[in-house]
Amino acid sequence: EKEGYDYFMIKEINEQATAVRNTLTEKSTIQEIIDDLGDISRICFVACGTSFHASITGKYLLESIAGIPTDVILASEFKYSANTLNEDTLVIFISQSGETADSLKALDLANKTSKTLGIVNVAGSAITRRADYVIQTQAGPEIGVAATKTYVSQLTAIYLFAALIADDEKLLEDVYKVPDFIEELLKEVDSIKAMSKKYKFARDFFFIGRGYSYPIALEGALKLKEITYIHGEGYAAGELKHGPLALIDEGIPVVVILPPGENHRKTMSNLEEVKARGADILAVGSKEDERLKLKSDDLFAINDDVNEIIAPLVYIVPLQLLAYYVAVEKGLDPDKPKNLAKCVTVE
Ligand code: M6R
Repeated sequence: EKEGYDYFMIKEINEQATAVRNTLTEKSTIQEIIDDLGDISRICFVACGTSFHASITGKYLLESIAGIPTDVILASEFKYSANTLNEDTLVIFISQSGETADSLKALDLANKTSKTLGIVNVAGSAITRRADYVIQTQAGPEIGVAATKTYVSQLTAIYLFAALIADDEKLLEDVYKVPDFIEELLKEVDSIKAMSKKYKFARDFFFIGRGYSYPIALEGALKLKEITYIHGEGYAAGELKHGPLALIDEGIPVVVILPPGENHRKTMSNLEEVKARGADILAVGSKEDERLKLKSDDLFAINDDVNEIIAPLVYIVPLQLLAYYVAVEKGLDPDKPKNLAKCVTVE
């Protein structure tokens, strides 16, 4: 069933435009859920791993676009804040499998006080049966242990939810363009293959981004750790000076996520800080960003119409590809990373 691809992971990376398109068809279901929910005074996302990173993007969106105070809590830490929830809080569980033990445990707790919504890929899974409301992501089955197409599908559901709550037509329009942007960039994998060859012997990688690009950095680092066994750390770009800058040295690869938008100028100065200390800059930015071309050692360039708000849905793809090709270069099986299971059913 790999349909000519070497691994499920690369097949699933290539299915992402379709996964987003199919999840966009959930729009009317999401509108119905919103209408039924009525006023929500607070939202709390609960998830693990990649689904947790999608949740962080959800917090940024719901707070800035919809003005709803939103928390993000790791499912395994949820019980420590559960007693601040009440009936006006909507608790959203994001999960590919719908069976993650930490998330299920948290869902049972949340159900005692609050309305609950699951954003889940596997139909009929435990979370879909126990949550009050369900949005089904339409990624189709994901076999690779590393979450890829289910991540962009989770994000698609979250963007639809936020745009519909806020009645933000412009955001909706932008999200509908995402599949085309993904298809466009998937035609340019050669530059990523070259980067993988160059950096496969690195021991440490840093990923930095600001605002909406911060969870992209976290997710890029998780993909790298998970399948290449290289140490990767995702940091909020502004946090570098508060510690990790001490680790930046000659030849350390730093992946800088720099979509066009409000945060560009500040992240560019963070890029300069690490560059001045000898880091190799692997940038992901706009095709029209001439300054970035000059400042980076390697650049993966993306359509200039992908602004920083929708960047999480698009800019993650080259980072998935980077992790994938580094794993393949190292002779590792990206579909079956050691010590990990697709679905974590113990707490
Ligand atoms: O099925 P879930 O989304 O609840 O799984 C959560 C995490 O275990 C999962 O995202 C994990 O981090 C992935 N293997 C990352 O690629």
